[in-house]
Amino acid sequence: MSGSAERKLIVAIDGPSGAGKSTVTRALADRLGYINIDTGAMFRAVALMARRGGIDPEDENALGKLCTGLDIDFDRSDGCCRVLVNGEDVSTAIRTPEISLLTSVVSAKKVVRDYLLALQRRMGERGGVVLEGRDIGTVVFPTAQVKFFLTASVEERGRRRFEELRAKGASVTLEQTIVEVEQRDRQDLQRTIAPLRRADDAIDIDSTSLTLDEVLEKMEAVVRAKAGRQ
Ligand code: DC
Repeated sequence: MSGSAERKLIVAIDGPSGAGKSTVTRALADRLGYINIDTGAMFRAVALMARRGGIDPEDENALGKLCTGLDIDFDRSDGCCRVLVNGEDVSTAIRTPEISLLTSVVSAKKVVRDYLLALQRRMGERGGVVLEGRDIGTVVFPTAQVKFFLTASVEERGRRRFEELRAKGASVTLEQTIVEVEQRDRQDLQRTIAPLRRADDAIDIDSTSLTLDEVLEKMEAVVRAKAGRQ
């Protein structure tokens, strides 16, 4: 299908951790010829730099200073999407369980959210983007033309995260991974700033028993229908 007559839209994909957002976002962006923006990776990058700088995650002042000195970007030159902080590729370093938990704390801080909100809007405002996160459809781009809320059961999300970590050689147990997913769900849902919330006009997709292709077919059809319409 030709993309030339289609409008370049802003597509928001929100949902809890482990629902498959990263894989789905990347593959959907590929199908559409859009770029993908992993906003979770941006929060993770801030958390990593806070840890390296010995910054107390409760110290908003210090976090603010840290943010102003950061240059966060994505390198898509090898077809994938590497996360760069001040030119350094931190794609692997931001994916440890320790940084995952720290990110959940740091991402609840207003100063961090404000800094990344501005950056995310700059990256996405021209359209032709698929952004994934927790508050894309509600806060970052409430006027996004297409919004999806991607979920899966907690057990399935824990199992997926466990497989992912094991493939990377991490020594974790399935039970421990499910507990961590539940813990992050609680933190993401209960925080006062930009909690994980489904936008009223989001389309729900439960991926528990769907294949990746089935999820993508559904999403692509929605975006194409919307993009072809003026
Ligand atoms: O999607 P992820 O697992 O990489 O996200 C890491 C953390 O960042 C997670 O605890 C939720 C938080 N996050 C957020 O608060 N807002 C976003 N837009 C994206 C992620």
